[in-house]
Amino acid sequence: ADTLGAAAAQTGRYFGAAVVPNLLNDSSYAGTLSREFTSVVAENAMKWDATEPNRNQFSYGGGDQIVNYARARGMTVRGHALLWHAQQPGWAQGLSGSDLRSAAINHVTQVATHFRGQIHSWDVVNEAFADGSSGGRRDSNLQRTGNDWIEAAFRAARSADPSAKLCYNDYNTDGINAKSTGIYNMVADFRNRGVPIDCVGIQSHLSSNSNLSSYQANLQRFADLGVDLQITELDVGGSGSAQANVYRQVTQACMNVARCTGITTWGISDLHTWRPNDTPLLFDRNYQKKEAYHAVLDALNGG
Ligand code: G3I
Repeated sequence: ADTLGAAAAQTGRYFGAAVVPNLLNDSSYAGTLSREFTSVVAENAMKWDATEPNRNQFSYGGGDQIVNYARARGMTVRGHALLWHAQQPGWAQGLSGSDLRSAAINHVTQVATHFRGQIHSWDVVNEAFADGSSGGRRDSNLQRTGNDWIEAAFRAARSADPSAKLCYNDYNTDGINAKSTGIYNMVADFRNRGVPIDCVGIQSHLSSNSNLSSYQANLQRFADLGVDLQITELDVGGSGSAQANVYRQVTQACMNVARCTGITTWGISDLHTWRPNDTPLLFDRNYQKKEAYHAVLDALNGG
């Protein structure tokens, strides 16, 4: 197949991109998006600060625009993200204890209900584990409401939208390490106790010299717990063959794990990326295909 989306579809997978609403009417941006990709995720438009700027006042304009764009083109939508320590609205940053807990669970319920039936997979909780060697939770206002905040969020999301797959999403989990093992233990515990969780998002913000020696084994150990994997925010710093090789390894690892159901890059072209001094995406600033693009396409085609 000669597009990313069509190549991924040969094995039942999707290939997605993070998008911003105000570029959907830019013809180069939207032309590449609709030609190459079969899934979208909002880079910022569905986060807490965007969707509930004032307590109990919801604002779905940007999210609805993305969902409508996708539905009109037969693309699926990843929802990102119901709860996260970052990008909280100011009013939530000032809450704590049971008041924050009930505001957070209300947020999950309201947003998941609004988009019910339209989201393939939700990042219910984003980045709740600490970096480094502890393997434990990250300190945050949400964590300080009690260690059970994550399972409470997953249960609320399941009730609000029973058809969405519910994911835990994090970064620096690109291999078997203390952080990914902490997450693995949480997922195993959730599965044992019947807490609803369906998938784990491996963000994969990488560089050309990232060590991917245990990348596939890490995906496989999560799959063996009975959850799906998704590569959710892939981008790779650098350029040329070194960059292309990292993209190829990630794509091949996903292809080699039956439960790895899709890949999303965190943007489309190097013109619009959260890493503005780098060139981490598959299309250059003129929307031309890079060497990395051809490596991914080749791997999706089984090459
Ligand atoms: O919307 C405001 C705008 O009104 C204001 O004028 C402007 C001035 O700085 O800021 C705008 O908000 C920015 C927002 O992006 C929208 O452009 C924020 O400052 C900026 O911090 C925010 O950055 C986003 C970042 O998450 C926030 O932490 C990036 O675009 C987005 O790519 C990034 O995405 C995260 C994932 O959600 C989670 N995983 C890591 C990934 C990369 O950091």
